[in-house]
Amino acid sequence: MEIISDPQDMRGRARQWRGLGLKVVLAPTMGFFHRGHVSLMEYGKTIGDRLVVSLFVNPAQFGPQEDLGRYPRDLDRDVRLAREVGVDCLYTPEAKAMYPPGYQTFVAVESLSQGLCGASRPGHFRGVATVVLKLLNQVSPQVAVFGEKDYQQLMVVKRMAADLDVPIKIVGRPIVREPDGLAMSSRNTYLTPEERAAALCLYRALVAARELVASGARSRENILAAVRQIINAAPGARIDYAALVDPATLQDVEAIRGEARLLLAVWVNKTRLIDNTLLSESRLCCV
Ligand code: PAF
Repeated sequence: MEIISDPQDMRGRARQWRGLGLKVVLAPTMGFFHRGHVSLMEYGKTIGDRLVVSLFVNPAQFGPQEDLGRYPRDLDRDVRLAREVGVDCLYTPEAKAMYPPGYQTFVAVESLSQGLCGASRPGHFRGVATVVLKLLNQVSPQVAVFGEKDYQQLMVVKRMAADLDVPIKIVGRPIVREPDGLAMSSRNTYLTPEERAAALCLYRALVAARELVASGARSRENILAAVRQIINAAPGARIDYAALVDPATLQDVEAIRGEARLLLAVWVNKTRLIDNTLLSESRLCCV
């Protein structure tokens, strides 16, 4: 596995691969790999000839009071894991190369970025859209893969690529969970054992919502009331938002007609966790 840090070198390697007619896939990450990342990598390998995994903790998507400074990092372990999975290139640009002095250009995906995580984390999606566009320009992959845990991010990135004519396919991949249901996240490492137990309220709420829908419930009011009750009963849990939205526009829906997405952001003491699921009138698959 090759490790490249310099954006020029990355561009050069990507150009070489494209010249050979190879299909390049990018999985953008902020490192501290877990099974969610590994599943993106494994999928990426199956759909292309060369898999690039970018590892960059992007300062532009963290607010001033957020966890940029303490975001978990373990490069040696990440290198080992990426090698084991068979990643072709680990791309690890530095902040000063991504945002050199004088840097002043940012991408704003307007309405999709405004509610939900965008409301609690002002500027977050501007930072995400900007760094993802830069990575796409540097690696020029044909396909980029993202996890569905960050569902709003996935929608923002798809919109950005479509609106700015980036010739790429953006693919979302299913959420990977711990055996007890907690969605994989690098931020799970912040949780104490008590908080880890309380954090299961997100998954429980999603499962309860699916069961409600399976038994005929459709209204947003009923579904969100059940969700809120479960989360509010967990010690230390505080709802940031619980929303039932149209899967494409992320606008609130009053009732499930066809498909809706249930999106949750919950503080467990000082750790903010997100999770989501599809709620469908017809499809009854697992969370
Ligand atoms: O989901 C993430 O890890 C990040 O938001 C991403 C897409 C790598 C952009 O920094």
